[in-house]
Amino acid sequence: MDVLDKCRSWTTDHLRSIGLDSYYRTVDDCFGGTEAHFEGRRVVIAASHDYLGLSGDDRVREAAVEAVRRYGTSLGCSRAVSGSLALHEDLEDRLARMLGQQAAAVVPSGFQANLMLAPLLGTGDVAFSDFANHASLRETVGLSAGEERRFRHADLAQLEQMLDAAPSQAGKVVLTDGMFSVDGDVCDLPGITRLARACGARVVVDSSHDLGVLGVNGAGVTEHFGTGADIVTSALSKSLASVGGVIAGPSEMIHYLRFHARAFTFTAAASPANVAAALAALEILQSEPERRIRLLTLAERLHNGLRAMGFDTGGSTTPVVPVHVGERMRCFRTWQALCEAGVFSTPMVYPAVPEGSELLRITLTAAHTDGHLEQVLTAFEQVGRKEGIIPDSTPDTYTPVRITGLPVQAQARPV
Ligand SMILES: Cc1ncc(COP(=O)(O)O)c(C=O)c1O
Repeated sequence: MDVLDKCRSWTTDHLRSIGLDSYYRTVDDCFGGTEAHFEGRRVVIAASHDYLGLSGDDRVREAAVEAVRRYGTSLGCSRAVSGSLALHEDLEDRLARMLGQQAAAVVPSGFQANLMLAPLLGTGDVAFSDFANHASLRETVGLSAGEERRFRHADLAQLEQMLDAAPSQAGKVVLTDGMFSVDGDVCDLPGITRLARACGARVVVDSSHDLGVLGVNGAGVTEHFGTGADIVTSALSKSLASVGGVIAGPSEMIHYLRFHARAFTFTAAASPANVAAALAALEILQSEPERRIRLLTLAERLHNGLRAMGFDTGGSTTPVVPVHVGERMRCFRTWQALCEAGVFSTPMVYPAVPEGSELLRITLTAAHTDGHLEQVLTAFEQVGRKEGIIPDSTPDTYTPVRITGLPVQAQARPV
């Protein structure tokens, strides 16, 4: 038996036959994160989590270029042995303060930030994890000595039963995404925290998608609800227009993890350019709240424009807009037709979503124009009708979505 046997059947023909050849395509010439060249045509990028549209911002780009000039492209080693730059410490201090935590550690990816949780879970400890959590939260429990128990997505009654049934002496932690990256809903952090406090469990929130999007200062889901979490993690690749990750919590925990988390100790330092870009983006996120309002306003118009045509955007109340299509091959056909109509979205199929719940995920950023929004809506209307996803004539009524965190005075006008 050769461990590579399984790779031989995974050919391009096989991928095409199951529709998965839509993934790992090459996208050229990104124009400020809103448009790109794809297969010879210019497309609107509606598939990025650069929520505040800062990856194309001149100040963010300049900060990255300046860091490369000053420090080079890499520190070439783990921070444990080759030290940190003041840039790393500055970003850690600012993120900890913003997230309402004592301390933080920055790593080269959001995935690794979640892997840093593993040493907290010892033998007999239990992690209670929402079914829809990001894969990296699952992975961290797998790397730990603890046990994973998954509760149905957003089902707090089941979480409560599971917490009650767990051994009283076990260390317990509840893991949840803040804003869910596929369904676009927001976790019930006050409810989760109440259940956790009642049995001495800790709460970890992955704020990758809500940082910069929720909360009056863009600090994420904890600020939105005014409910603290024990530990907050986040990717820096969404609103912070960079690549990297952060874990924030009590100082003693961060100190402990710097020596016990292999995902921190045995990995190279986050690159100077990425740290500098995240710092510049953080500054803009905090000083230009109008970007967040623009993002939320566009999202509300996008949701309601699609709903008015008869599309189903599920339970999302955020800029993550899932358009339910309901069948794998139809999902890929629709995705391809949308590309031909100039819109690049993300097809989500099993195992990312349950079989039969296939969807196209669309996200517009604060940098998209009203023209981009119209182009996306027009393409969806044409393609949706052709594929039979929406009726030929516009329905008389629809239930509008009110976007979480959008101030009433900024409420989007009806489409
Ligand atoms: C909720 C969530 N957590 C963690 C990650 C991982 O972040 P990164 O891409 O920086 O590794 C992602 C990214 O897709 C995410 O959506």
